Amino acid sequence: MSQASKWGTFWLLVIGVVVGILLTAATVGVVQWAGTDKFCTGWCHSMDGVTYAWKQGQHARTPSGYTAGCSDCHLLNETNRPLTPVAYVELLFAKAKAGSISGFGELRGTLNTPQMWLEKRAELSKRVVDTMTGNNFRNCRGCHNLAEMYDAKKPMVAAMHKGFIDKPTNCVMCHKIAGHNYKQADEIIKETGKWPDPAKAWETAEAKK
Ligand code: HEC
Ligand code: HEC
Ligand code: HEC
Repeated sequence: MSQASKWGTFWLLVIGVVVGILLTAATVGVVQWAGTDKFCTGWCHSMDGVTYAWKQGQHARTPSGYTAGCSDCHLLNETNRPLTPVAYVELLFAKAKAGSISGFGELRGTLNTPQMWLEKRAELSKRVVDTMTGNNFRNCRGCHNLAEMYDAKKPMVAAMHKGFIDKPTNCVMCHKIAGHNYKQADEIIKETGKWPDPAKAWETAEAKK
């Protein structure tokens, strides 16, 4: 190899490494941005109902002040630790898939009116529950370790969940409003014919169950 082409190879390598670092940083940034609740809910009104219902469910506001957002439950994500490099690549694919065809894009694409949402809800919910059942509620379990449940005042609760530790179960069969509580959103749609405004979901003191 000539002296000149050695330098050429050297600079190519340097540029390659720099570009690699920049691309990685950009990917991480976009993935984080696209995983925020704002990204999931902010693009079009077809998400207003489900967002309103999430705010009235059991995870948007909790006694401890912790919020579980859309991607915590709906995407393979950071709460499913440990997040190894391989798992991160898996996460990227899961997000790409959710963002393009089989996720909300497809679920929500044709929902232009709140009335259509009411009509289609059962089917949409079922698809989500089926997906969750398919991975045995791995996202719920990522935050709620059934083996470590402890409630001094209600020991029966932990005892009962022990039976589900290694078994297939359906968390939302019992915890119907864990993700979304639709009651008030539905009432608003029936009364006004319009999407409920998620910004107003917490104006009523207590969500109706
Ligand atoms: C990102 C973490 C996270 C995920 C994912 C998650 N949860 Fe939770 N969950 C919490 C936190 C935090 C609380 C509130 C704890 C507290 O403040 O006492 C909570 C509370 C609950 C409660 C008690 C609610 C109440 O008001 O009494 C139930 C039931 C529950 N979760 C079920 C589920 C189910 C079912 C899923 C899956 C569909 C799920 N969780 C997914 C973090 C999570
Ligand atoms: C604690 C877990 C949890 C969180 C957080 C959560 N969901 Fe859900 N989601 C569920 C579950 C469980 C279902 C299926 C049962 C139901 O419809 O409530 C569901 C159903 C859905 C559906 C299909 C049914 C419908 O109403 O159209 C969509 C779309 C959806 N969620 C979007 C979102 C968005 C957007 C967010 C954030 C604003 C979010 N979810 C936050 C658990 C969650
Ligand atoms: C057969 C019904 C049933 C199933 C299935 C079930 N739970 Fe529960 N769960 C309950 C009941 C009943 C309680 C106590 C009342 C309450 O807090 O809602 C409870 C309470 C909880 C709590 C609050 C604990 C506390 O001390 O306040 C969490 C968190 C929870 N369940 C998570 C889950 C998760 C995650 C799954 C799925 C892996 C699951 N549950 C499956 C019935 C069930």
